[in-house]
Amino acid sequence: MWDTKGVALLGIALCIEVAYSAASQSYTWKNVVTGGGGGFVPGIVFNPSEKGLAYARTDIGGAYRLNSDDTWTPLADFVSNSNWNHWGVDALATDAVDTDRLYLAVGMYTNDWDPNNGAIMRSTDKGETWTESTLPFKVGGNMPGRGMGERLAADPNDNRILFFGARSGHGLWKSTDYGATWSNVTSFTWTGTYVQDSSYSYTADIVGIAWVTFDPTSGSSGSPTPRIFVGVANTGQSVFVSEDAGATWKWVSGEPQYGFLPHKGVLSPSEKTLYISYSDGAGPYDGTNGTVHKYNISTGVWTDISPTSITDTYYGYGGLSVDLQVPGTVMVAALNCWWPDELIWRSVDSGVTWSPIWAWNGYPSINYYYDYIVTNAPWLQDSTSTGEFPVRVGWMVEALSIDPFDSNHWLYGTGATIYGGHDLKNWDSAHNVTLESLAYGIEEMAVLGLIAPPGGPPLLSAVADVGGFYHSDLDTPPAQSHHTPTYSSTNGIDYAGNKPSNIVRSGSSDSDPTVALSTDFGRTWSANYAASSSTGTGSIALSADGDTVLLMSSTDGTLRSQYQSTFSAVSSLPSGAVIASDKANNSVFYGASSGTVYVSTDTGLSFARTAALGSSSAVNAIRAHPSVAGDVWASTDTGLWHSTDYGTTFTKIGSTTCTAGWSFSFGKASSSSSSSSSVIYGFFTVDGVTALFKTEDQGLNWQMISDASHGFGAASAHVVAADMANYGRVFVGTNGRGIFYGEPSGSLPTSSATSTSTSSTTATGSTMTTATTSSSTTSTARTTATTTSSSTTTTTATATTSSSSATSTSTATASPFGQCGGTTYTGPTGCPSGWTCTFFNDFYSQCTQQE
Ligand SMILES: *[C@@H]1O[C@H](CO)[C@@H](O)[C@H](O)[C@H]1NC(C)=O
Ligand SMILES: *[C@@H]1O[C@H](CO)[C@@H](O)[C@H](O)[C@H]1NC(C)=O
Ligand SMILES: *[C@@H]1O[C@H](CO)[C@@H](O)[C@H](O)[C@H]1NC(C)=O
Ligand SMILES: *[C@@H]1O[C@H](CO)[C@@H](O)[C@H](O)[C@H]1NC(C)=O
Ligand SMILES: *[C@@H]1O[C@H](CO)[C@@H](O)[C@H](O)[C@H]1NC(C)=O
Repeated sequence: MWDTKGVALLGIALCIEVAYSAASQSYTWKNVVTGGGGGFVPGIVFNPSEKGLAYARTDIGGAYRLNSDDTWTPLADFVSNSNWNHWGVDALATDAVDTDRLYLAVGMYTNDWDPNNGAIMRSTDKGETWTESTLPFKVGGNMPGRGMGERLAADPNDNRILFFGARSGHGLWKSTDYGATWSNVTSFTWTGTYVQDSSYSYTADIVGIAWVTFDPTSGSSGSPTPRIFVGVANTGQSVFVSEDAGATWKWVSGEPQYGFLPHKGVLSPSEKTLYISYSDGAGPYDGTNGTVHKYNISTGVWTDISPTSITDTYYGYGGLSVDLQVPGTVMVAALNCWWPDELIWRSVDSGVTWSPIWAWNGYPSINYYYDYIVTNAPWLQDSTSTGEFPVRVGWMVEALSIDPFDSNHWLYGTGATIYGGHDLKNWDSAHNVTLESLAYGIEEMAVLGLIAPPGGPPLLSAVADVGGFYHSDLDTPPAQSHHTPTYSSTNGIDYAGNKPSNIVRSGSSDSDPTVALSTDFGRTWSANYAASSSTGTGSIALSADGDTVLLMSSTDGTLRSQYQSTFSAVSSLPSGAVIASDKANNSVFYGASSGTVYVSTDTGLSFARTAALGSSSAVNAIRAHPSVAGDVWASTDTGLWHSTDYGTTFTKIGSTTCTAGWSFSFGKASSSSSSSSSVIYGFFTVDGVTALFKTEDQGLNWQMISDASHGFGAASAHVVAADMANYGRVFVGTNGRGIFYGEPSGSLPTSSATSTSTSSTTATGSTMTTATTSSSTTSTARTTATTTSSSTTTTTATATTSSSSATSTSTATASPFGQCGGTTYTGPTGCPSGWTCTFFNDFYSQCTQQE
């Protein structure tokens, strides 16, 4: 038995609270609106007892609550550097008895990318405020199999009881006190055997328990529900049942043994039937085979109700839902039908017959049984796309839900957004529905670069997976993502200091040159043929006059191209260095790596080591002042450093006050300020606290501008850009919660001499017992959050998006419709004769036959 007392003791042992002396300034924070999600939504859960109450969870950006006007409210914006892994939500449970209660199982990775254990967060006000209990193991909100579920469920008859199915072989856990304390259900011995791919730490962990489904009809209100089904990621027996409220368990005999994993177990109470979707992969990217089955609880009979016969399928199944108002109405999605588009089916006869959302009408003709409306996020469709078949229904559909109070209302999550509609019954009457983008308010993008070029639009973004945008208006969804050339991910973006309308961006593509140039502030682009589609890209810098591009390539180290001539290697700047161009002198580029600064005075042809930044061992960012030649700054693991002589010598800013820094940027000086220097905004550790700070006097005084309701997640994963036109405005690009912009709402605190003294106190047991955080601003919550920040600051791993590095070197042949490429994919990359390996996205290429 583990309880919160154990955590309290652990807290005393590990947490040293550092006295905090820097001032803060109130800011108003809003999302830069894209209106359409921008990332994978693995779970959507409706409350079965309260009309209109629904939640969505994301894998790297927290959870959201649905509003009556179809918009969403974020529920986890308090997450800060100290608890960054809480933005990974592996499971969500809403309470059928007390509908105000909400639970999240949080934690990002179960491998060493995330050093922290997971937690169960619980709310009694629908996610406005939270209390949490740390679990004695990790939770993997961004791990393989994160769309299976839900792994966390509250008993619909006795809501004190919750079950949570863990990953990594940690088994089934139970709480009898509304999620406050948890104990291992040792009678449940099927802790999972399936791993996606044992050769990489990210895919080698046991996916574990996939879902917990109560059968409310087996019990009565006020007593624990006797019948509970549990699905486990096993290739053998994988669906288990208890008839005694979880005391004893057995395999549900007769379960078909195809070696597939159960993704969803959805109960149709009035039919006394459990519907199950199976796929041969854990998802969300893989899966080429699978079935849909129903288990008739009254008769114990299993029936294969797959919409596609097993001999013809080239996909597994994911999202599954029943209409609680209309027994026998069931919907299921192929987890991934990568070509020509995702498939969703609907049955009104308990799965005997199905109708699809689209069907071939003699290749290449397709009947689309839907109208497609994306006014909330027009960029979801690239207006210049030349693809033969538009991908509109989506991919990675694990979340699929019919509103239990409104048979016309449905929602489903994809790899990029939430779709759904309000006329679902038309599927049965006219076999035609209106598919709408319904993710407004969900801003889930993983942001890799931001610039606010002087004289240009308010903002340009570089974004993973969906490319990034020209934001002509911060509060209105962009019409299109950056295109022609179109990159799945844009990895870097920069402008020329003397000609800010000249912009460069780098990205990933299977066909286009991976560098693009614009001369109209990023409104239109042309491919830079100095790069090819095989030039792997990372950050990028454009010289002050716009003639020279310096690229930190992911494949070939430092590369340089002038006047669009072929990129050539720059061996004198180490691979992986951070880079920047001088914004006023066209000859000068800066780089930094391992605590050392490198400067080029010959437009990037060669670099010379110029300065060592004290005892710094890592340089996290280097930035040149937007208008002052030779004025360059670097943030490191020891603080912020400044040079006024083209990087020849550096001095440390804020002496002992600022002890680490990550992304930062320069903004317009205040007109009332005595100092004319630009405001510096960035993520720094100041007086022991890691947060978003600004300084208006080059590090003499600092103001924290993040707050208890806006913590922005992992400091190391952000990009910060400030605005030389609007005093006070700053942009924060997050890894999974989109882009925020902030403007001051409180006055600048009066200057005080900066305290350089730091004192240490030991946290009390009571502060650490439970971390209570409120989405309304309270100083108590901030104190709690900072308590843990000092202990995790230096150990926080860079939270990467799911686009990690493994690439395949195999030359073997994949099967027809088999996977043949993608990030983390390690199988065969060739296709049979007559088949082509077709790129769908960074994560998935498939052998297809396109005549
Ligand atoms: C929980 O119980 C299961 C089954 O007995 C066991 O395999 C697992 O190791 C336990 N987990 C922990 C964290 O104790
Ligand atoms: C799908 O699985 C079934 C059952 O194991 C098998 O017979 C069939 O060949 C598989 N299909 C493919 C395309 O591998
Ligand atoms: C379950 O089995 C009973 C008895 O054969 C049958 O009447 C009922 O329709 C079945 N339910 C479903 C959902 O197939
Ligand atoms: C469904 O309705 C849409 C919008 O009216 C139309 O474009 C589409 O062709 C219809 N589908 C079929 C198969 O008639
Ligand atoms: C730009 O930098 C180069 C190299 O350091 C220097 O020779 C040149 O004088 C600088 N140009 C201006 C205008 O300051």
